[in-house]
Amino acid sequence: MPPSPHPPAFALRGPYLTSFGDPFLDGVEATRRYESDGVVVVADGKIADAGPARQVLGRLPEGTPVERLPRATLLAPGFVDCHVHYAQLAVIASHGTELLDWLDRYTFPSERASAQPRHARALARRFFDLALAGGTTTAAVFCTVHATSAAALFAEAARRGVRTVAGKVLMDRNAPRDLCDSAQRGYDESKALIGRWHGRGRLGYAITPRFAPTSTPAQLEAAGALWREHPDCWVQSHLSEHPREIAWVRQLFPRARDYVDVYARHGLLGRRAIYGHGVHLAERELAALAASGTSLAHCPTSNLFLGSGLFDWKRVKKRGRHVRTGLATDVGGGTSLSMLSTLAEAYKVARLRGRSLSPGELFHLATRGGAEALDLQQRVGGIAPGLEADLLLLDLKATPLLAQRMRYAASLDDALFALIMLGDDRAVRATWVAGRVVHRREPA
Ligand code: GUN
Ligand code: ZN
Repeated sequence: MPPSPHPPAFALRGPYLTSFGDPFLDGVEATRRYESDGVVVVADGKIADAGPARQVLGRLPEGTPVERLPRATLLAPGFVDCHVHYAQLAVIASHGTELLDWLDRYTFPSERASAQPRHARALARRFFDLALAGGTTTAAVFCTVHATSAAALFAEAARRGVRTVAGKVLMDRNAPRDLCDSAQRGYDESKALIGRWHGRGRLGYAITPRFAPTSTPAQLEAAGALWREHPDCWVQSHLSEHPREIAWVRQLFPRARDYVDVYARHGLLGRRAIYGHGVHLAERELAALAASGTSLAHCPTSNLFLGSGLFDWKRVKKRGRHVRTGLATDVGGGTSLSMLSTLAEAYKVARLRGRSLSPGELFHLATRGGAEALDLQQRVGGIAPGLEADLLLLDLKATPLLAQRMRYAASLDDALFALIMLGDDRAVRATWVAGRVVHRREPA
């Protein structure tokens, strides 16, 4: 069932923060807006107005109720998780070794159960409960190979009105037989799902070859053909995550120049294509991604958990050859659905590469940066008139440790950084989706 009609217009008054450009290119101060006493007006599921209270209150339509936000909170755009496997909630935090072993031992066997619509529906409900509680209001989601898994996720997203990009996984080799489709079947099922769900309300379809090793060239070709037939769909997959995986791709596709070229040859690069990981990319590969407008999803908790490697911002965000990059939890290779926790790990991964991501850069990554990586910046990822009213209220004193740290916060960035390093879903006091409250947490 679609959500009921939008609630009447209302306004929220308190401090808010939003990014509206790319701090990696133009610096933080030129690309963000902080209002210490702001008002955000919501009408018809969208942000109707936003700015300093002294300006916005004067032009507020008569009768609009104004809710004062609690002290020590910060209003922000909802988080954008650019790459997550909802069915892997069943295997998050499973002990093992590296990527390919983890796929064989846990991931593939657990994905079997999603053939059952009841199981898939229950997982989809839990996924959205947890994601929204953590402040994530937009996600790019991998389903399993089963069309039922994608249908369950889309139905739940539609019921809750959550902006969601998702697709059934395509895999026709190098996986258990009963978990494989075929080039034709994968194409047919994806096409039917596109017809049923793509563009319906806030839903978008992502053509989802799992990764090059589990698709034959014929299947990648079919995926490329499908994208040409539906160019406003998304493409999502994995790329250059672990050295063993990369060596395997080289064996399986001896004619390709490198991993990126495998996807390029099958017409799978371009705007609205987003690839998870990109940890070990060569210069040529980065240049090809940048030139084609292809995006990356950085998955720090997953890269640490599976020991895949350290994402390198210096190489990805080079001036003149700049790859749009969002942040992602990659559950269940990733170990948290919280984008705040994921930001903290992104910071640490960058430190190990000799770079200190600034609080403003981190905040951008989880919001506007993710929206740009998914080509959704006209719809979500910020607080500005015309954008969809996906919002969250961050609690700067959510835990005793955070509260004590905030006593010493010397600036907005100091407070924001402490929140990122110490916060998780406990720091999300409320979440709004298209102007409707979908999660509230009582203060500790
Ligand atoms: N590569 C192919 N499939 C997967 C997956 O499910 N998780 C991760 N992290 N990497 C993959
Ligand atoms: Zn993944």
